Amino acid sequence: MEKPNAPATERNRDAIHEVIAELCSDDQNEFQLFEIGSGTGQHAAYITPQIENLTWHVSDLEPNHEGIKAWTDDIDKVLGPYSFKVGEHNELPVKNVDFVFSANILHIMHWKLAQQMFKVLSQSLESGSLVLFYGPFNYRGEYTSKGNERLDQWLKERFKDGKSTIRDFEEVNLNMSKLGFILQEDREMPANNRMLIFHKL
Ligand SMILES: C[S@@+](CC[C@H](N)C(=O)[O-])C[C@H]1O[C@@H](n2cnc3c(N)ncnc32)[C@H](O)[C@@H]1O
Repeated sequence: MEKPNAPATERNRDAIHEVIAELCSDDQNEFQLFEIGSGTGQHAAYITPQIENLTWHVSDLEPNHEGIKAWTDDIDKVLGPYSFKVGEHNELPVKNVDFVFSANILHIMHWKLAQQMFKVLSQSLESGSLVLFYGPFNYRGEYTSKGNERLDQWLKERFKDGKSTIRDFEEVNLNMSKLGFILQEDREMPANNRMLIFHKL
């Protein structure tokens, strides 16, 4: 199969690599990362070969698996793709993961599904695990840039059922904290995106 291309991954992959490499900086340890909504698998394909002590488990809905395989099949430490659909699966298919990473998913899925995902994470992860959400967020109900405002308008036009919209950082933080996570870091990323890093208590 020809490799599908998500051009945004080429713009944000170095910044995402930097965060994940920092989290794996203890080279005496092996780290397991589970990704929700891997899309094309390009983040895994770019980042995993650069971090020796990292294994990356990719997942998405089945129609995306062929594309993910085209990017990752020949990379030893990328495992999967697993079928993992929030709303259908109530636990992560991989146990004892150190990190769950998900990029550009919270503004796509229905808020009820996002809350369901938080619950699955809370039930599946051990104390000390980290959850990393990459993407655009609003703060106190305000866009952080004109670009994010345009993206939100596009989401509302494209998905007229109203399920897709940029989420409020405060809502995500509140829901995660009710489920036993504390915000470890809210890092600025390129193009008005953020990396929210939550720590499971
Ligand atoms: C905007 S894409 C982001 C893909 C990739 N993470 C990236 O940043 O390029 C959103 C992804 O979420 C996946 N997705 C949508 N609904 C989902 C659900 N209920 N459970 C798991 N994944 C879902 C889609 O199939 C899609 O691959």
